[in-house]
Amino acid sequence: MTEYHYRCWAEIDRGAVRHNAALIKKRLGPNVEILAVVKADAYGHGMIPVAQALSKDADLFGVANLVEAITLRAAVRQPITLLGPALPQEFGSIAEHGFIPSISSWEEADQFNRLASNNKVLINFKIDTGMGRMGVPAHQAMALFKKVKALPRVEIHSVSTHLPVSNEDEVFTRDQLRGFSALVKQLRSEAPGNYKAHALQTAGALEFADEPFDIVRPGMLFFGISPLPQFQTLEAHLPGVDRSRRGRRQRPSARSSALDASAWRRRGSRWRRARREAASRRVSRSDRRLGRHRTADLGSRPSAASLGQGDRQTIQGARAQSRGRSGGIRGRKLAAADR
Ligand SMILES: Cc1ncc(COP(=O)(O)O)c(C=O)c1O
Repeated sequence: MTEYHYRCWAEIDRGAVRHNAALIKKRLGPNVEILAVVKADAYGHGMIPVAQALSKDADLFGVANLVEAITLRAAVRQPITLLGPALPQEFGSIAEHGFIPSISSWEEADQFNRLASNNKVLINFKIDTGMGRMGVPAHQAMALFKKVKALPRVEIHSVSTHLPVSNEDEVFTRDQLRGFSALVKQLRSEAPGNYKAHALQTAGALEFADEPFDIVRPGMLFFGISPLPQFQTLEAHLPGVDRSRRGRRQRPSARSSALDASAWRRRGSRWRRARREAASRRVSRSDRRLGRHRTADLGSRPSAASLGQGDRQTIQGARAQSRGRSGGIRGRKLAAADR
């Protein structure tokens, strides 16, 4: 029998995953719940071990579909939200398992109401504030919300929205969040209830946390990945790097400019400068929608860039270690730098 040897793999440090969960809790406050997004097999890192690592940190889990939800149910006790739309033939099973589907229409809510057995079906009422792919259009949300809330066998667990460009269009994202926040206030005043609100994924939780709402939904953050370079330091565990020489200059052959943390920081400032320049030239999506031209004013943004150095936090990376067996590279188990 031929034995298959993997040439590279990722080693996930569960301690780092938990550290990143604690970091977000610290940043947003103890009352904000964590909906840990472990969809797509936790982005290929292994849904079950990652969810188990987060079992004491996550209040809920988020997956893409029913198959993932059923798989995850065997491993964790927390509520599980389906972030993607469900297929009509899956509705019965979702209701039966007590998963929380995300709904975007009256038809879906009505169908769950019909399928509910002893327990009510908890739903996530998704509102489209700019993604354009899923969710009740914001201008129809109030009327539909009231109608859905009146259904006897459906209970609204949460209202949510998604930020599609939070790593690239600050104006659009702030506009979305302002609109969502106003809508949530209006819903709570006209149709009060215990439902929660959520909007922030990784980029949102890092950059737009002025109002975190009740739940945050990070995914990639747990693996130490930020779509915003100012929050990212990467540590390269390169074969040949002698960690006992830390603090001294490393041998040039062992350095990688692509993965070197200071190179990333330089990239970060280049990226921010490029973003400011681009912003001064372009008409943002929100302004296009409103039909007005924007002059950039990113200088005064109340974002991470204006936080004091001490407030800045760095995501601690789950470490990926590659061990080549060719090209003269030798794998080496390196000491954990950030435990
Ligand atoms: C609805 C929703 N919320 C949150 C996330 C998590 O996003 P991120 O990995 O950027 O934190 C995803 C991921 O695709 C998502 O679809």
